[in-house]
Amino acid sequence: MLRSTRIDLSAENRTALTALLNQELVLMTDLYLQTKLSHWNVQGPHFIAYHQLFDEIASHVLEAVDMIAERATTLGAAVDTCAQTISNTTTLAPWTASDRRDQVIIHRLADVIGDVANSMRRAIDEAAALGDADTADLFTEVSRQLDKDLWFVESHVN
Ligand SMILES: [Fe+2]
Repeated sequence: MLRSTRIDLSAENRTALTALLNQELVLMTDLYLQTKLSHWNVQGPHFIAYHQLFDEIASHVLEAVDMIAERATTLGAAVDTCAQTISNTTTLAPWTASDRRDQVIIHRLADVIGDVANSMRRAIDEAAALGDADTADLFTEVSRQLDKDLWFVESHVN
């Protein structure tokens, strides 16, 4: 149920926009958890470089999680990042701890960052089509940072 607001976007568009925001919020929360799992579990001769890089990326992702959640509540919706919702709705490949070698972890992390970055890029156009330049701008900011973080991760792939 949407809260009423003086923001002059239609309730129909706000419903679609907040569904989109919640969808990206689930992906970003999953990405945050997977990035921290990479930070904690990575093993190899360059451990400290990966450990620090993954934590830096996690902090960017967590900052974006807060911005996306608060845009949804600004538009009048509730947000939902409970563990069950993330588990039931994420489209990212699940984390596995079976192989902790750095090149395995970094390939996996590049894959999930790439998936979220590409979803975010699509969300920019969807938000713009719903008449919300502010949400499109937020997605653009997040998308640009994800692409940069992906560059850093891809540059460590053998
Ligand atoms: Fe840490």
